Parts: sequence; structure tokens; C-alpha cells
Amino acid sequence: MSKDIFNFSAGPAVIPDSVIDKINLGLDDFDRGMSITEVSHRSNAFKEFAQSSESSLRNLLNINEEYSVLFLQGGASSQFLMTAYNFLKNEAAFLDTGTWSKKAIKEAKLFGNVDILASSENDNYNHIPNFEIAKNYDYFHCTSNNTIFGTQINSFANTDTPMFCDMSSDIFSRVLDFSKFDLIYAGAQKNLGPAGATLVVIKNDLLDNIKDNVPSMMNYKVHADKSSMFNTPPVFSVYVSLLNMRWLKKMGGVSEIEKNNRKKAQLLYSEIDLNPLFNGHSKIKDRSIMNATFNLSDDNFKETFESMLSDANITALAGHRSVGGYRASMYNAMSLDSVKILVEVMSELESKI
Ligand SMILES: Cc1ncc(COP(=O)(O)O)c(C=O)c1O
Repeated sequence: MSKDIFNFSAGPAVIPDSVIDKINLGLDDFDRGMSITEVSHRSNAFKEFAQSSESSLRNLLNINEEYSVLFLQGGASSQFLMTAYNFLKNEAAFLDTGTWSKKAIKEAKLFGNVDILASSENDNYNHIPNFEIAKNYDYFHCTSNNTIFGTQINSFANTDTPMFCDMSSDIFSRVLDFSKFDLIYAGAQKNLGPAGATLVVIKNDLLDNIKDNVPSMMNYKVHADKSSMFNTPPVFSVYVSLLNMRWLKKMGGVSEIEKNNRKKAQLLYSEIDLNPLFNGHSKIKDRSIMNATFNLSDDNFKETFESMLSDANITALAGHRSVGGYRASMYNAMSLDSVKILVEVMSELESKI
């Protein structure tokens, strides 16, 4: 892979070069000459790796033994239905902050009543709406970072209702108090590793509160009791996720990476705010430090801008069709220097016009 490409993809996304080097070693020889793609998930070598993944994760996120850590398959999209399948008995509350929340709501409706506490849909999801959890629900579901719209929840509700959160696009990016959450989930392919593994962290208390007759593959307790080995886990993705977690630890852990993430975001948002050729999509107070969404103020500059991006080897900057324009995804492995290159191109466009 050319190291000169600046990959702003929303996911699957950039992985640190040093991790890619280690993946290559594991592809060649993970255990006694066998590639990671050849070893059994029941081999001692892989089991040790999987255990190590769990303890690294607990360590990095500061998650205690009151929670089970699961590596499942099916992506975050399977969690939309699995959460409801296991826990929606009467009514669940949802915060609608974008496409992914909406998909979670759609799946939950198959299993019970859904109360949408607030939605920013009428403003094309450019902010996180205010809401109140005024009564008891089976659980409250929110999306911490809205990958498509570029908004992020900065302060989470204090509630006695069990809080479930889709953290697919900002897990490991900032320090959070995980004791507030009862269940979190995230697809691996942004801040963790390649697509394939889905991380679930679930409070053990909840495992005794699962509905009857939930099929085994959909049942959190079945997976927890078997330490995520009820069926074949996504071996390669778990392997790379651990390598990534080791990289993150070496970088100083989540608190250090958060500082870097904030620097990157600040750099890009200042350009968006100062450069008259660009408009940000998200309201300033709810801007995501992972995915910055912005548009050109005049589409006549589109061709010039995109050819400059291409000359600078900047790729995957196109916005999702529901927002248009551009989206710069700046996950943990994206360097500050890469964001500087993008900002330079944006400011060069201004000086050209
Ligand atoms: C916040 C969020 N939730 C859910 C998903 C869906 O994830 P998956 O493709 O792993 O099912 C995505 C994908 O980008 C996402 O960004």
C-alpha cells in the first residue's frame, strides 16, 4: 500500500502502519509456522490472544468485572435487533440522531413499543436534540457518534433506566465513564480493526434479565457463558483488534489519543469556520471529533477542489448522500499531519479563487 495516500474513509478505515507490519507477520506465521488465517479458534495460541484482547480492552476503557466483554459477528446492525430481541419486553426509549439510530429504531419496533424521546430529523440531523427520560423503560438507546452527520453526544444522560449505546464510530476515541452504560456495542471497522468483529460490553446483571426463547446466536448470555466462543469468532478481526489496542496503549492510551483527536478536529473545524468557501453541517456545540461534515459554499468550485484533493492523494472524502459535500473521518489512526494536508488544500483553494 502506498503510504502517501491520506485515507479519510468513514470505515473500514486507516490502520496504523506499525499494526499493518505486525498483521503481515501474523499472516505469515502466527503459531509454529501457521498463518493467523489458518489457526483454530480453540488453539492455545489464539485463546491466549483472545484473553489478552479482553484484558487490554478492560484496561484501556477502564471496564470492571461487573461487565462481560464479547466479540461477536454480524456488525453493529445485528446489535440493533439483538438488543431488542433480548431486552425489549414492553417499551424502550430512543434518541433519534441520524441514520443509524433510525435503523436501530426500525429493528426494535419488530419486538415491542418504541418511544422516540427526541429527534433532529427535521434539521437533517445537524444537532443532538434535548430530551428527558421521564418514565421507566426497558432501556434507553442512543448513538454516541453519528458517523454520517458528524454530530456527537458530549454529555450522557443520568438515568436509572438501563442505557444502551451504539459507539461504533467513537469507541476508544475519548475518555468516558463507562459505569453510566449498561450495554455498549461497536463494529470494529473504525477505531478497532478490520470489519468482522463486533464488540459488546454488557453489564452482567442484564444477563439474568434476558427474555425467554431468544435463539442461541442472538442470546447475549449464551455468548457470555462461552466467552464469545459459542461459534467460531471472527478470528482475524479479533487478532488485528488486539494489535490495535496494543498500539493504542503504546500511544499513551485513550486519554492521550483523545488529546490528538481533539487537536485534529480543532485544526479542521477552524479551517471550516474561517474559510468562506466551506460551511460545516453540524451545529458547533455538537460537532464530532471523529467525522467532520462540510459543504462547499459554491458548487462551482467542486471540480477544482476535487482535483486538488486528488493531486494531494487525499481519498474517501466524499460525504454520505444524505448530507452531500464532504466528510473527513479522523479516527485514532489518522495522523495530525494528514489532517494538516487536507487543511492546506482547503486554504490553497481559497487563495486560488
Ligand atoms: C454509528 C454506526 N452504527 C452502526 C453502523 C453499522 O455498522 P455495521 O456495518 O457494522 O453493521 C455504522 C456503520 O458505519 C455506524 O457508523
